[in-house]
Amino acid sequence: MSRIFSGIQPSGELHIGNYLGAVKNWAKLQHQHECIFCIVNLHAITVPYEPAELRSRTREMAVSLLAAGLDPERCTVFVQSMVPQHTELNWIFNTVTPLGELERQTQFKEKAQRQESVMAGLLSYPVLQAADILLYRAELVPVGEDQVQHLELSREIARRWNARFSAQQDYFPEPKPLLTVTRRIMGLDGQSKMSKSMGNTIGLLEDSNSIWDKLRPAMTDPKRVRRTDPGTPEVCNIYQLHKAFSAPATVEHVAEQCSTAGWGCIDCKKVLLESMSGELNPIRERATELRANPGRTDEILRAGAEHSSALAGETMREVKERMGLA
Ligand code: TRP
Repeated sequence: MSRIFSGIQPSGELHIGNYLGAVKNWAKLQHQHECIFCIVNLHAITVPYEPAELRSRTREMAVSLLAAGLDPERCTVFVQSMVPQHTELNWIFNTVTPLGELERQTQFKEKAQRQESVMAGLLSYPVLQAADILLYRAELVPVGEDQVQHLELSREIARRWNARFSAQQDYFPEPKPLLTVTRRIMGLDGQSKMSKSMGNTIGLLEDSNSIWDKLRPAMTDPKRVRRTDPGTPEVCNIYQLHKAFSAPATVEHVAEQCSTAGWGCIDCKKVLLESMSGELNPIRERATELRANPGRTDEILRAGAEHSSALAGETMREVKERMGLA
């Protein structure tokens, strides 16, 4: 059984794009592997932020993850800043990471462009990510396409550290990405990827009324102007959501009704709302229970940090020993 590690930024409530693209898969993986999932609040402070907001977003993310099905009996869930070894190993890895590699990272270049002044932490972001993963000597990292370059750098860091400090057998494994198979989920505008910054999301914990308020005006097949025009399901974002949430037989039926103009888009969206409610209502109920008892979430995160710290402490002992630091 290989060990899996993944991280998610504390952006507050998950949206259905994050859920379908990542967390739903994590909930499956926890039954097949030893899994460690981390809310990476130290990554979140590499760009300007508000402390009070970060605190509540971290909390909301924990509630969302647990509600979405991460089971503390089957996996470890914790907050990055509660395990100080992440930053300790980050520093050590800074000393074996070529500056040029960091400057070449696409995400760094994109984010740096949007900042007035760029802090060293933003440059070092992928080094902290390598520390996250290698601290647990994880072999597989479930991520989206956009993290492939960061993972390559993690492997490079592992190789360089091993070459310098592993006597015979490599101490750090080279972590491989486990690419999530789901297509990327488009926002309700049907134009760009679903993301908080675009304001085109559906929250994982939104109630059916508010989901309906967003679905009703949402973009469908742009060529289907009148109710009597036959539609092309494959180009319609609502159809993509059916594929994610509806049963296969329903998906087939929807395609048929759309392409023969049997249904209008509103009919189709009503069916989608029902499918979504079937999957999301239980998640929302779990979130409500968790919010009613905040001590429960605290305890889960505390136990998660305790377990992670024990593993992390073991790694740091080995690392310091081999580096002449202990
Ligand atoms: N950079 C990742 C993202 O933005 C988050 C992350 C931090 C991560 N540390 C990680 C992902 C370790 C996987 C493994 O999505």
